Amino acid sequence: SDPDSLQDFCVADLNASISINGFPCIPASKVSASDFFYDLSKEGITNTSNLNFSVTPANVLSFPAVNTLGIAMNRVDFGPGGLNPPHSHPRATEMGLVLDGSILVGFVTTSNVYYSKVLTPGEVFVIPRGLVHFQKNVGNGKGIVFTSFNSQMPGVVISSTTLFGSQPPMPNEVLTQAFQVDDAVVNSIKSKFGS
Ligand code: GLV
Ligand code: MN
Repeated sequence: SDPDSLQDFCVADLNASISINGFPCIPASKVSASDFFYDLSKEGITNTSNLNFSVTPANVLSFPAVNTLGIAMNRVDFGPGGLNPPHSHPRATEMGLVLDGSILVGFVTTSNVYYSKVLTPGEVFVIPRGLVHFQKNVGNGKGIVFTSFNSQMPGVVISSTTLFGSQPPMPNEVLTQAFQVDDAVVNSIKSKFGS
């Protein structure tokens, strides 16, 4: 859903001194084959939090060749029980392919309807742009999902950290009223997300 490109490619100059919507191109004479290839073969480190998952992005920041091409990917690794927590992408629809594990994929529509399915290797899913979704590896072994996006920079809004981990913090009077709980509950959740 990004704008159409006006040329074959525009490998991003991530260090350009001007700031535009996207990135300026490095000169075509400085582009080489290696710019158009990126390695997602490495397993991410999943055990660094209780979520037990890891995202390795191939978006314009890590893979500058996708600049202006309206496309990006992620490699998502899961340990047993690992969770990619509820989040949304403001700028892209997501399509994913399960390569390993038993992956519970779920999303909620703007009408508050929840759709979900447990997928096994070879199966794909689609998450319409902007909707809150998650994946959880409900299998006993590792899980691997490759996701793709129709944006060079889909963006990610993680529901938990957005509400309970912002800096500066969202006021408790907003969160206690929104979630109909008391300050102790809000403070307890905030303490887990550093806000
Ligand atoms: C999965 O939801 C991802 O954003 O890669
Ligand atoms: Mn996603």
